[in-house]
Amino acid sequence: MTIIDGKATAAAIKAEIKQEVDRIVAQGGKRPHLAAVLVGHDGGSETYVKNKVLACEACGFKSTLLRFEDTITEAELLQTVERLNADADIDGFIVQLPLPRHISEQRVTEAIDYRKDVDGFHPVNVGRMAIGLPAFISATPLGILTLLQRYNIETRGKKVAILGRSNIVGKPMAQLMMQKQYGDSTVTVLHSHSLNLQEECRQADIIIAAMGQPAFVTADMVKPGAVVIDVGTTRVPDPTRQSGFRLQGDVDFESVSSLCSAITPVPGGVGPMTICMLMLNTLKAGKKEVYV
Ligand code: GUN
Repeated sequence: MTIIDGKATAAAIKAEIKQEVDRIVAQGGKRPHLAAVLVGHDGGSETYVKNKVLACEACGFKSTLLRFEDTITEAELLQTVERLNADADIDGFIVQLPLPRHISEQRVTEAIDYRKDVDGFHPVNVGRMAIGLPAFISATPLGILTLLQRYNIETRGKKVAILGRSNIVGKPMAQLMMQKQYGDSTVTVLHSHSLNLQEECRQADIIIAAMGQPAFVTADMVKPGAVVIDVGTTRVPDPTRQSGFRLQGDVDFESVSSLCSAITPVPGGVGPMTICMLMLNTLKAGKKEVYV
C-alpha cells in the first residue's frame, strides 16, 4: 500500500517552480507577482493566506497581501478588484473565500479579470476548462490530477467515483477526470441524495472523497486495491492537541488504508498540493501561458 505524499510532491514542484523563476529572472524576465485579498479574521482563511504568502517566497514570487476588516462594503471590495485587474505588475490574484455575508462571492468572483483568475473560479475559466480549452484550472482538482500523474496511477478507462458536487472540487474534478486529455476515466458523481452510494463506491477503481463528512468512507465501501483520494479537512475537537482540534478527512484512514493500493493522508495529502497548484497557475499567469 502506497501513502501518497502530497507534502513531498508539493515541495518538489515548488523547487521546480523556483528553478524556473530563477531562470526567467536571470534572463531579464519579470518575477511572477501574486496578490491575495483577505477580508476579516476567519481562522482558517488567515492560515491559508499565510501559507500562500510563504509558498510565494519558496517559489521566488513577489507577493502582496491586502487586508480589510469585515466592515468593508461590497462596492469597496469591487473597487479593489478593479484596481488589481488594472495593475500591470500583478500577474494573478485571489480573493480568499468565504466573504462576509453582506458581500456576494459570485459578484466578486465575476469581477476578477479571468486572465488573472489563478484560482480558476471565474465562469470563463470554469467553462473553458469544461470544453477542453486552455484555462486556469482550480487548484484542488489540479492538485489531485497531478498526484495521480506523479504516482503513475493509471486513470484511462478506470471507474472513478467522486463524492461531492461542489463548484470548487467535485464538479471540476468530474470534468477533468472524464476528459480525454486529462483523466480519460468513466466518472460517477455521488452526493447526499445518491441512491446506492455505498455500492457505487465499491465498484470504483479510484474514489475521490470531497463531501466534507469526517470519516464517511469506510472499508466496506472500498474495493480491495482501489486508490483513495481524501479531500476532506474538517476540524474535529481533539483535547490531546495543543490547538484543541485536529484535521479529519472524509475517509476512515485506519480501516481503508489496510485494503486500498494507494491513499492520501490527512493532513499531508491533497492539502499541500492545493497551494502548490496556485503557485503553478501564478507561474503560468506570469509567463502568459494560458492567456496572452
Ligand atoms: N477558500 C477555501 N479554499 C479557497 C481557495 O482555493 N481559494 C480561495 N480564494 N478561497 C478559498
